[in-house]
Amino acid sequence: MGYKIAIAGATGNVGREMLDILAERGFPADEVVALASRRSQGTEVSFGDKTLKVQAMENYDFSDTDICLMSAGGAVSKEWSPKIGAKGCVVIDNSSSWRYDADVPLIVPEVNADAIVGFSKKNIIANPNCSTAQLVVALKPLHDAAKIKRVVVSTYQSVSGGGKEAMEELFEQTRAVFVNDPIEPKKFTKRIAFNVIPHIDVFMEDGYTKEEWKVLAETKKMLDPKIKVTCTAVRVPVFIGHSESVNIEFENEITADEARAILREAPGCLVIDKQEDGGYITPYESAGEDATYISRIREDATVENGLNMWVVADNLRKGAALNAVQIAEVLVNRGLIKPKKQAA
Ligand SMILES: NC(=O)c1ccc[n+]([C@@H]2O[C@H](COP(=O)([O-])OP(=O)(O)OC[C@H]3O[C@@H](n4cnc5c(N)ncnc54)[C@H](OP(=O)(O)O)[C@@H]3O)[C@@H](O)[C@H]2O)c1
Repeated sequence: MGYKIAIAGATGNVGREMLDILAERGFPADEVVALASRRSQGTEVSFGDKTLKVQAMENYDFSDTDICLMSAGGAVSKEWSPKIGAKGCVVIDNSSSWRYDADVPLIVPEVNADAIVGFSKKNIIANPNCSTAQLVVALKPLHDAAKIKRVVVSTYQSVSGGGKEAMEELFEQTRAVFVNDPIEPKKFTKRIAFNVIPHIDVFMEDGYTKEEWKVLAETKKMLDPKIKVTCTAVRVPVFIGHSESVNIEFENEITADEARAILREAPGCLVIDKQEDGGYITPYESAGEDATYISRIREDATVENGLNMWVVADNLRKGAALNAVQIAEVLVNRGLIKPKKQAA
C-alpha cells in the first residue's frame, strides 16, 4: 500500500517538475492529486505517462492525504500549510513562509536529514531557497573536512526562480529586442533581456535584499550558526539554472586538490573541473539534471586558508522540486510516516 500525495501548485514551474520527479524516481505513491488555483480547475498536467485533471485546492479535503508538496507561493502557504498539517497531512513547503520557524525543520537531505525529526510539531517541513540548497550541498563536505569560517557568495540566478511569468517576460523581452518593440518590465524591476539585475526580492533596512538575507539565515540554520556568510544576489537572463561564485575561508588548511577529491565523493555533488576550454559547467547544461555541479576550484592566495569555486544547479530541481521529493523520501524511508489508508 502506497502513499497519497497532493501537489499544491501543480501547474507552476516547480509543481510540474515535482510531478516529473515523483514519476522518474518511482516514489511509492498510490495516488497523486494535482491542485492549483480555481483558475486552473479542469486543466491537465502530465504525471509520467498519465495525465491528471487539476483540482482547485480551496475545495480539496486533505484528510486522507499523507504528504502535500506545496509550491503555490508564500501567501498561500502561510494560510494553508497549518490547516493541512492539522489534518494530519505533512506539508513539504517551497516558500519562505516557514523556513525560519524554530518548530519547522529546514532540510537538505545531503546536509541535515537528521534534523527532520521535529517535523510533527506543525506537520510542516521547509525547503530552502534555491540558491541556498545548491550552496549547502557543496559547502557541507568541505565544512566537515576543514571547518568553514566565512563564505562570500555572488549568485547568478535564472529567471525561472521567479516563476512562470518571469520566464515569459524574458522570452517576450528578447523577442521585442529583435523586432524593435517597446520593452516594458512587469515582473522584474528593470529590463532583463540582455541585462543583469542586482535585486531579487524586497530591500531590507540594512540595504541587503531579502534573497541575500535568506542565503545567510538558511546556511546558518542548516549547516552551522557560527559560519559567517555574505551574499550578493543577481538575476541574469538565463531560463533555468542558478550559478554561484563562492569564496570560502577555512579554519584549517585545505588545498584545491583536496577539495576536489572530497567533493568527488560527496552526495549530490559532481565535480567537472578541467583547466581547459569548456572544462566547467554552465547553467544551460545543468537544466534537467539532479546534481550540484562544482567547477573552477582554486586556492585563494589573499587569505590564509581560502578557496574559490563555481557552483551550478537546476534551480527547479535541486533548488526546489527534487529537494522536496528527497525530503518526502526521507520521511518514507525512515518510517516516519505510514500511509493513512494502511493505518485505517
Ligand atoms: N522557481 C524556483 O526556482 C523556486 C525555488 C525554490 C522555491 N520556489 C518557491 O516555490 C513556489 C512556487 O514557485 P513557481 O516558480 O512554481 O511559481 P509559478 O510557476 O508562478 O507557479 C505558482 C503555482 O501556484 C499556484 N497557485 C497560485 N495561487 C494559488 C492558490 N490560491 N491556490 C492554489 N494554488 C495557487 C498556481 O496555480 P495557477 O496556475 O492556477 O495560478 C501555480 O500552480 C514559490 O513559493 C516559490 O518561491 C521556487
